[in-house]
Amino acid sequence: MYVLNAWYVAAWSTEVNREPARRVICEIPVVLYRTQAGAAVALEDRCAHRGYPLSPGRLVGDDIECGYHGFTFDCSGACVRVPAQDIIPKQAFVRSFPVVEKDGWIWIWTGQKELADVSKVPDTHWMSDPEWVTVTHSMPFACRAELIHDNLLDLTHESFIHTSTVGDDYIYKHGITVEVDGDVVSADRLMPGVVAPPLYARTMATDGLYDRFHCTVFYPPGYLLLHSGITEQGKPREEGYLIKVLNGITPIDAHNSWYYYAFSRNFGTDQHWATEELITGLATVLEEDKAALEWQEIGLQSRPYDVRDSLIAQDAGVAKARKVMERLLAAEKQ
Ligand code: FES
Ligand SMILES: [Fe+2]
Repeated sequence: MYVLNAWYVAAWSTEVNREPARRVICEIPVVLYRTQAGAAVALEDRCAHRGYPLSPGRLVGDDIECGYHGFTFDCSGACVRVPAQDIIPKQAFVRSFPVVEKDGWIWIWTGQKELADVSKVPDTHWMSDPEWVTVTHSMPFACRAELIHDNLLDLTHESFIHTSTVGDDYIYKHGITVEVDGDVVSADRLMPGVVAPPLYARTMATDGLYDRFHCTVFYPPGYLLLHSGITEQGKPREEGYLIKVLNGITPIDAHNSWYYYAFSRNFGTDQHWATEELITGLATVLEEDKAALEWQEIGLQSRPYDVRDSLIAQDAGVAKARKVMERLLAAEKQ
């Protein structure tokens, strides 16, 4: 059901502090907190004693004390104290998870600990690069994570649901180039000689015609990086107004996901008004996606299981991504 041997965004760095926070990731309850030295800790949010969540408990130094009968666990998940007796039962431990904190996100490894490879945490450096300015949002989507992957890999929906912000009628008139490199799937669309999208045009202080592009790269199962921008006609992309949209998509359960979103730009970085405009405009974009995908989830839940999607050429990235996900899920089952 889930690819567990993977890094998922568990929270923003700012959400993890000395007050334990609960998350559910791939149906696993997790409690997040920080040690006194500031290191992020992730433990199973279910006490080994009788199953009470640890997140309503309290921190005692670097340990967490269950709020029900006081069983206390250290950062490794070992029980270090049972208030009512001296002997600690052998099976009294909770699972601990590898975590990595980078560029404002806390990543969690939900699978086998020995397979956690820190070098596989995706590149998100734009979020902390002083040459770039980043706007962030996060919200729960009442839909399965795969619908968000599909949504980002097929941006023709922008023409229909983001008409006031990033949509334009010309998007679906341009085809995509899809590439698969191992597990990584990218879908690239070049739109030569078009106007800039309404949300960015003012920020970019542009008028006239440009080459617009967006390329979604899916790093399965939980991260999609969208390289987007506009450039003078015929000029290389790196010379243009560039945007990196970082999308951490974390399943909660079969019908719910967390969406962690960061939008980094390399233009107008000292224009505070532009950042403010983007904060509002991008919230609108995300709300539009959320509404659409929640409707799609409703549509799919009532669809007979033997009815399949009717995919078209614009879904080539979606189709490839689904194949990779199927392969990863099958590998995990073994
Ligand atoms: S359930 Fe946690 S101490 Fe009893
Ligand atoms: Fe969208």
